[in-house]
Amino acid sequence: MEKVGILVISYGARETAIVDVFTRSTNYDVQIYVADKQRNPFNMKRATKHVVISDLNIIEICKFAETNKDKIDFCIVGPEKPIIDGVRDLIEKQTCIPVICPTKEYAIEASKIKQRLLFKQVVPEVNPRFQIFNPKDCKTQEEARKTVYKWLDELDDKAVVKPDLPAAGKGVGVWGDHFTTRQQLLEHFMANLQQGSVIIEEKIEGEESSFQAFCDGKHLAPLPETRDYKRAFDDDKGPQTGGMGSYKDVGEILPFMTKTDRTKEVKIVTKIFEKLKIEDKTALRGVPFYMAFMHTGKTLKILENNSRPGDPEIINILPILKNDFVDICFKILEGNLTHIELEKTATVVTYKAPPNYAEYMDTFPDQVDKQEIGKSVNLSRAYELTRKYGDRIRIYPAAMEQRHSETYALKSRAVAIVGVGENIESARQISLEGINAITGGALWYRTDIASKQHIEKSTKHMEELRRRQ
Ligand code: GLY
Repeated sequence: MEKVGILVISYGARETAIVDVFTRSTNYDVQIYVADKQRNPFNMKRATKHVVISDLNIIEICKFAETNKDKIDFCIVGPEKPIIDGVRDLIEKQTCIPVICPTKEYAIEASKIKQRLLFKQVVPEVNPRFQIFNPKDCKTQEEARKTVYKWLDELDDKAVVKPDLPAAGKGVGVWGDHFTTRQQLLEHFMANLQQGSVIIEEKIEGEESSFQAFCDGKHLAPLPETRDYKRAFDDDKGPQTGGMGSYKDVGEILPFMTKTDRTKEVKIVTKIFEKLKIEDKTALRGVPFYMAFMHTGKTLKILENNSRPGDPEIINILPILKNDFVDICFKILEGNLTHIELEKTATVVTYKAPPNYAEYMDTFPDQVDKQEIGKSVNLSRAYELTRKYGDRIRIYPAAMEQRHSETYALKSRAVAIVGVGENIESARQISLEGINAITGGALWYRTDIASKQHIEKSTKHMEELRRRQ
């Protein structure tokens, strides 16, 4: 069998899932090299070489690539930070190892303002109304108050405040979630403005779907829709998180969507892709368009675009690929990836997180077993379920660390369990059985990911919105 060396730049369970599909390759003898955020137990076990670069600094990552360049055929990048920092440009220049992710210039996730201006030019009808505020135009709090309040008059206060740069200042703030008065909104705005420009855009009501597509620079290969659960707690309460779980239905759309919605999404993303492709035909490699769409009943709106696979959303896809993922990657690099084939199955991902994540312990102090905080997490009973379910269950450690023979949860989402089934409900049951088999560390999870009630609620909400048209 042909030997292939692959460098994976890893943050959490999204990359554990990538490592998993590579090591299940039936066409190649794969050797994995991982530049990881932590001593991830799954990656450490499978990697030929594993290095921890906790801040994912691209110079350090490039040094690791350089040291092993004779053994590495290509590199793939999951997390946004190294992509935005230009890891592809650096590794390709220094080592000639081809890298699967967009170049720095085409990582449009890097600037919310540039994204909005691009969409305004190419697909203005799907842009929410927005206004850009620069620090130089709001020199005093009074100046800022006047211009911001004037814009809020037009939006009827229903606004979203976003820093231009990812994770700058206080981050994204949403009317009704993070603030309920103009004064609170202004405080959030001012904290962000200290770090750079800020966008205030209209808050869109609707149901959200995640669109993802693999891309070889010349072609888009759209992946089925997934639904992310961003809020921390059941019934979409609590703070925003990276995503507490997600589901994918058997086909390519979600239960509350129509085929026309899907066709529109593909058309919108294709238009944006075609516009960018004119400039450079290799820059948009990987998953440059992971787009959050809001379905309003009347139309579609783009909430944001990310230049990388979704976490957890890509975990809904990777376990059910029909093609060997190594072959998919070679096609991406050769520029001949035209489509992707998937099993006709549903998948559900549920995350477990530590008690200090997303203010869980402060919100539900009585739910946390204090004796267990900081203790090791035992995944062995979850792994035993592979005897019962085979490939239909996957256990993907995320922010977990191997210390000697034990594994510990760190500060972020700790472990994802994927269930694969003939429908959403059976996939969910497998995912939950895996979740309940994990013990230790006082971990918690959302109990309503892909539940019948939650899906019915989305479908009813969508019907109501369509009626209101
Ligand atoms: N699931 C949200 C994200 O990947 O950004």
